[in-house]
Amino acid sequence: MGIKHKLPFLRWSVLRMAVGARNITTTGQIGDGREAAAAEYVVANARAGDPDDVIATIDRFAYEKSFLINIGDEKGALLDAAVRRAGTALALELGTYCGYGALRIARAAPAARVVSVELAEANAEIARRIWAHAGVDDRVSCVVGTVGDGGRTLDRLAAEHGFGPGSLDLLFIDHDKSAYLSDLRSILDRGWLHPGSIVVADNILVPGAPEYRAFMREQQGRMFDTVEHRAHGEYQSLLPDMVLESEFLGGG
Ligand SMILES: C[S@@+](CC[C@H](N)C(=O)[O-])C[C@H]1O[C@@H](n2cnc3c(N)ncnc32)[C@H](O)[C@@H]1O
Repeated sequence: MGIKHKLPFLRWSVLRMAVGARNITTTGQIGDGREAAAAEYVVANARAGDPDDVIATIDRFAYEKSFLINIGDEKGALLDAAVRRAGTALALELGTYCGYGALRIARAAPAARVVSVELAEANAEIARRIWAHAGVDDRVSCVVGTVGDGGRTLDRLAAEHGFGPGSLDLLFIDHDKSAYLSDLRSILDRGWLHPGSIVVADNILVPGAPEYRAFMREQQGRMFDTVEHRAHGEYQSLLPDMVLESEFLGGG
């Protein structure tokens, strides 16, 4: 792996991302078309119907072409292990982006249904294209919306995707960092988690979700049993980041 991968700030596509930081919060994209380019690259270069090759091709695009804000290969391995540990039959992801995280969940749980909630329609379209190419679109879907919309999206998940009390095995939180805790609380209020469900949360250090981390520390051994996994930010080995893996113990 070259020096530019170790020192991400030397990569133009990372600097360009810093310029696009405001775009990400308003449109869900970095603003230079790289997300659509990633889907084109996958369709052109990855073997159809092969989730392993699609995931590897997205990682290659992020390392060699343009940096992407997927969970990435290093932290993705932590997600894979949590999906397996939860014995996942039904998973919910918050924040779809290009569909990479949901595809990793689907690969780690080959019989599971995976539903991902995304604010930006353009990202949903990119993710669906990638899932179709990987051959998982019969069991991976995107709902355009947000948990913070007063219950509309959660109602849709219940009515159209079979979410209900105790149904959710794996929750992957990876969207608006300031909404991690409030959205978790909304899902707890619905009673969708069961003892043994696992909640994985990315980017605890960068950009950072301190309120969520404090909540999990306060709930340690009560509502949740949490492991703090130290790792690095996506697609580089310099900046530290952290993934929280929290097993639901019950209550709420
Ligand atoms: C870090 S990316 C998700 C990466 C993805 N989980 C993966 O690993 O491939 C964050 C995504 O969350 C979306 N987003 C931001 N705020 C959101 C919200 N309140 N509800 C749903 N999606 C949101 C953004 O549009 C963006 O696509």
